[in-house]
Amino acid sequence: MRAKFKNPRAQHDFIGRACSITGVGSYVPEKILTNADLEKIVETSDEWITTRTGIKERRIAAADEATSDLAAKAALRAMAMAGVTAEQIDLIVVASITPDMPFPNTACLVQQKIGARRVPAFDIEAACSGFIYALEVGQNFIMSRSCDTVLVIGAEKLSSITNWKDRNTCVLFGDGAGAAVLQHRPDAHGLLTTVLGADGNKAGLLSMPGGGSACPATAKTVADGLHFLRMDGKETFKNAVQAMCSAANEALQRCELEIRQIKCIIPHQANRRIVDAVGERLGATPEQVFVNLHKYGNTSAASVAIALDEAVHSGKIQRGDLILIVAFGAGLTWGAAVIEW
Ligand code: UT7
Repeated sequence: MRAKFKNPRAQHDFIGRACSITGVGSYVPEKILTNADLEKIVETSDEWITTRTGIKERRIAAADEATSDLAAKAALRAMAMAGVTAEQIDLIVVASITPDMPFPNTACLVQQKIGARRVPAFDIEAACSGFIYALEVGQNFIMSRSCDTVLVIGAEKLSSITNWKDRNTCVLFGDGAGAAVLQHRPDAHGLLTTVLGADGNKAGLLSMPGGGSACPATAKTVADGLHFLRMDGKETFKNAVQAMCSAANEALQRCELEIRQIKCIIPHQANRRIVDAVGERLGATPEQVFVNLHKYGNTSAASVAIALDEAVHSGKIQRGDLILIVAFGAGLTWGAAVIEW
């Protein structure tokens, strides 16, 4: 299999130690918030949300359910698929923009909740691209022989930073978590390449300004709504399509692959129009592109992780298939990964 990818940037050839995804799992909260429910909260309509975004409903975590709870449930499902016990986990990486609290990190809380050993545990914050960033980090721990089994999770409780009075944003987001177990496997199925990028010049397009060292929480920051997510939707849209296409194309080029060889494309589930535009520009057929955003909305770092789990468990991805994951988010950040399943 490896000889197929002659380009040295394809990491199997490059380092000679394969990193496979041996288990995936996801968890979404029970509560469903439909477009009809939102019509009662803000001035919007099912018609507007459906035609502009493709979203029909999203999941909302319970008041006593934190990001680490969603993450732990997804992790246990991924571990069950991989046949891995908590004892075997060597590293936990959580990607999230909605940690349980500023510190300690959410990965430490997940470690405690799943009963893992006192292994390293840390968070990555790269917004909607976070899961792909975390995959790359986890893979490098495996390739450098520091770890044999890494738990990578994308988890969000975006409802906790949503302004339920702002119709521009509150219809878009949802809560959930997706996880993957990465393991060294000598038989070489796995991550073939990962492309990551960022552009801090466009940090203002999508942010939550309050609560950090630049703007600590005060009664005024709360009153001014600075602890809610803000977005320039139109500009973000344009950047999303451009960045996802160029990351995806670079990942394909590194592996000397053409889009028709990819069985399943898993794009960040932000907006149906973005997903369709990316699929079209890459030259993919609609059948190649996995979409589940109508059920969950945009779950940021959890988005591609949940979609990957659903694509695998629905049988859309079979052993040996080539898949392309691509995401984009605040930062701005972006990433793409080619995986041989
Ligand atoms: O995950 C990170 C990446 N995030 C994204 O990729 C999101 C990217 N952006 C988008 O998905 C789209 O820009 C949105 C879905 C956010 C907005 O779609 P749009 O086609 O760009 O709409 P717009 O912002 O141009 O708004 C059009 C109109 C405005 O009214 P006026 O000013 O033309 O009178 C909005 O006020 O639609 C209005 N509007 C709404 N109307 C009903 C905005 N939100 C709503 C709403 N219901 N929920």
